[in-house]
Amino acid sequence: MVDRLFGKRIFLTGAAQGIGLAIAEACLAEGARLFLVDRDGDLLDRTVAGLSAPQGHIGHTTADVSDGAAIADAVTRAEGEIGPINALINNAGMNVFSTPLEATEEEWNRNFDVNVKGAWNCSKAALPGMIENGGGTILNIASTHSFTIIPHTFPYPVAKHALLGLTRSLALEYAARGIRVNALAPGYVETRKVIDYWNSFPDPAAARAKTMALHPGGGIASVREIALAAVFMISDECPFMNAACLVVDGGLSQLQHAL
Ligand SMILES: NC(=O)c1ccc[n+]([C@@H]2O[C@H](COP(=O)([O-])OP(=O)(O)OC[C@H]3O[C@@H](n4cnc5c(N)ncnc54)[C@H](O)[C@@H]3O)[C@@H](O)[C@H]2O)c1
Repeated sequence: MVDRLFGKRIFLTGAAQGIGLAIAEACLAEGARLFLVDRDGDLLDRTVAGLSAPQGHIGHTTADVSDGAAIADAVTRAEGEIGPINALINNAGMNVFSTPLEATEEEWNRNFDVNVKGAWNCSKAALPGMIENGGGTILNIASTHSFTIIPHTFPYPVAKHALLGLTRSLALEYAARGIRVNALAPGYVETRKVIDYWNSFPDPAAARAKTMALHPGGGIASVREIALAAVFMISDECPFMNAACLVVDGGLSQLQHAL
């Protein structure tokens, strides 16, 4: 299909690689105009150079989502380059994995600054324009960590739970202004981070096989499989979906292991 996102002007964070890059590719293929943001400017420059899109359909800038002023500037710049933003995808996020007694205050703060405040900063910058222009949509990339806990991943799931709270708060606050706010919760996705995790074991192939075997279907998601769900959620194909969390984890979070 093509042009399912024709007319969408999307501000997408964490776009230089992984799930964000796959979302960018899928949105471009559906006719959207994009403004891409990442804190890794060199990687973002290389990524944008490798994307194909009709002339003028991609803008980009380096910014850290935890910096509210930088994000406000980025949204202003985006609106100048691709037009008023009517879709925001808060994808930038980072793993902060420790335990409640070992996590430092710095780790706690950085986790919340990026994984929660980052989405709030971008929403605060993009919402006034959406309200003024009669509507829009926000998609927060959450995680199965938003409603389950894996020991030794603290405090990442605390922030991902909070991101669902932010999603619902914004959704209810602005529904009457024509704005839908939803969350997409991937489980394991085959990204660089996950591959590096497997490579940290003495037998990476065995670690990979173990992850795959955990899943009811015997495999984990590709970045494209997550991106396709994101395209649907920001498209006009689900106009009554609001304050929802769509879980895309191959069923893993529903699996009760035999005791
Ligand atoms: N990979 C998975 O298995 C998985 C599963 C569930 C949820 N998620 C979520 O999906 C999102 C994307 O994850 P990914 O695996 O593609 O990550 P990734 O590390 O491959 O890419 C994340 C991108 O975001 C950028 N970024 C990080 N912090 C930023 C900040 N403060 N400001 C601006 N840019 C920033 C990074 O530079 C990077 O380019 C995250 O929110 C993550 O929590 C990932």
